[in-house]
Amino acid sequence: MSAGITKAVFPVAGLGSRFLPATKANPKEMLPIVDKPLIQYAVEEAVAAGITQMIFVTSSNKRAIEDHFDRSYELEQELEQRGKKDLLAMVRGILPRGVTCAYVRQPQALGLGHAVLCARDVVGEHPFAVILADDLIDGGERNCLAQMTALYSRLACSLIAVEQIPAADTDKYGIVSSTPLESGLGRVTAIVEKPAPAKAPSTLAVVGRYILTPGIFGILETLGGGAHGEIQLTDAIAKLLNSEQVLAYRFSGKRYDCGSKLGYLEATVEYALRHPHLGREFSAYLDAYCAARKTTP
Ligand code: UTP
Repeated sequence: MSAGITKAVFPVAGLGSRFLPATKANPKEMLPIVDKPLIQYAVEEAVAAGITQMIFVTSSNKRAIEDHFDRSYELEQELEQRGKKDLLAMVRGILPRGVTCAYVRQPQALGLGHAVLCARDVVGEHPFAVILADDLIDGGERNCLAQMTALYSRLACSLIAVEQIPAADTDKYGIVSSTPLESGLGRVTAIVEKPAPAKAPSTLAVVGRYILTPGIFGILETLGGGAHGEIQLTDAIAKLLNSEQVLAYRFSGKRYDCGSKLGYLEATVEYALRHPHLGREFSAYLDAYCAARKTTP
């Protein structure tokens, strides 16, 4: 058994250009799915997977994320005075006891690989998780990162979450080729960033959950800007393959691409339908709305 993963890096310094103007002054990761921001779902996933240090790679307009995970004494006092005990407990519980947050700045959006490199000093020489909060994953009983940390405990190597995507979409993802190892797991033999469908080696796409060994930092440091001048994490993983085993893991669960408007809306509708207070009413509304649409010429 290897030591567990206790640190997670959340790169949240991207421009979020697909969500402009909503993301002009607000971070994409603070967009809510029903009543909870994307970044909180991601942190909850990490906490449930045993992570105790959250490392956010932020940029200048992401202050809202720091505020969200900080105490808000005025709000707490107000809720206390009004006797809103449930809301008070909810607000206080956003960051559970024993979990700490660290913030590092990415001065310029130079790519996901560069964002991960910015976390190097805080991560140190430990294996660590990377979570992209705009990939919201409903893993059911055992969340995606918990599935991966369990695998890491057994196999002690880098792991990338992957899923099958339509062939036409390969130019939106990192794409891997792999050889089968065991059920749901393959040994990565190659990985390329956003290949055109005609050139893609497979339709197995990387999604926003990684467990990486610290060896990745030395490689990231050597990379110059690739596509659009950015430093890609995919390119660093491709080089890591020369010295270490990297596994592709087909997680169980459903992923919502909340970095895209359609994925964001799908997640909103599905999470609203199973929301404990809202689900029934919203479901009735949706049924009535769809029925009315069918009958309207
Ligand atoms: P995306 O590719 O989704 O980019 O980044 P983006 O800038 O957030 O959104 P669009 O494409 O402009 O709409 C994937 C993840 O990597 C982070 C993003 O915050 C997101 O979580 N990222 C990306 C950084 O932290 N820094 C970067 O320089 C680039």
